[in-house]
Amino acid sequence: MSAAELDEALDRAAELLCRARRVVAFTGAGMSAESGIPTFRDPGGLWEQFRPEELATPEAFERNPDRVWAWYQQRRRVIEAAQPNAGHRALAAMEELFEEFTVVTQNIDRLHQRAGSRTVLELHGTILSNHCHRCGRPYAEEPLPEQTAPICPACGGRVRPSVVWFGELLPEEVFARAEQAIERCDVLLSIGTSGEVYPAAGLVWRAKACGAAVVEVNPNWTELSSLADVHLHGSAAQVLPELLKRVERCRRAVERG
Ligand code: OAD
Repeated sequence: MSAAELDEALDRAAELLCRARRVVAFTGAGMSAESGIPTFRDPGGLWEQFRPEELATPEAFERNPDRVWAWYQQRRRVIEAAQPNAGHRALAAMEELFEEFTVVTQNIDRLHQRAGSRTVLELHGTILSNHCHRCGRPYAEEPLPEQTAPICPACGGRVRPSVVWFGELLPEEVFARAEQAIERCDVLLSIGTSGEVYPAAGLVWRAKACGAAVVEVNPNWTELSSLADVHLHGSAAQVLPELLKRVERCRRAVERG
């Protein structure tokens, strides 16, 4: 996409948003790439270096809790050291412009909240909390060991990160709230996701089926590109601040009549 094409696409997206009352930002790992957190399926991404079935399933944890714990602990350190980027901050600022603005994220890094977004639905949980894999009780003791999964003081089970693994159900209430927001929204922004993981990705198709306009922000084409009304070919930290600026400009023009 040339600079002129991106400029024109940004105007079309801003116009859609300018008229919208309810907006959902559906985000994936690309949202945090410019904060230094690796994605999964890009070249050099985590699933190119590691096998998800050895690290991100309940069976993997049951087979080798310490290995899985140590891998997540290392990712936790990267995430704790990361800062929200200009894209996260632009989404937090957008919240002020709409009657309803919901972030539905597949990310486990809490960077949306740290940037100031208030309504964030975490479909895949968060790496910043832990609970017992056996009894489900939250585990908040510090400091956390680096190499061995802690033992639950209540039941003796092993403690795990509070993320959703392959083969597990998404948190029911969070998913229901996400569906509600998706079914009501006028515009859905799909940002930095490959759209390959279900049921999360199904929400974008649902939004489209319910009549929302879909705007995709991604430097690459994805499984979701074919249903996007506008594709903004660029990175989240570059495109979103520019989009915010144009929506604000459009709103001011509408207010002036
Ligand atoms: P993926 O790694 O599958 O996709 C990342 C997407 O971000 C790709 O489409 C990239 O083109 C895009 N991208 C890369 N850099 C970007 C940038 N700076 N700005 C915008 N986009 C950029 O990550 P997800 O779609 O989030 O699930 O993956 C979905 C789920 O698969 C994750 O939540 C995780 C993973 O396995 C679980 O762990 C359950």
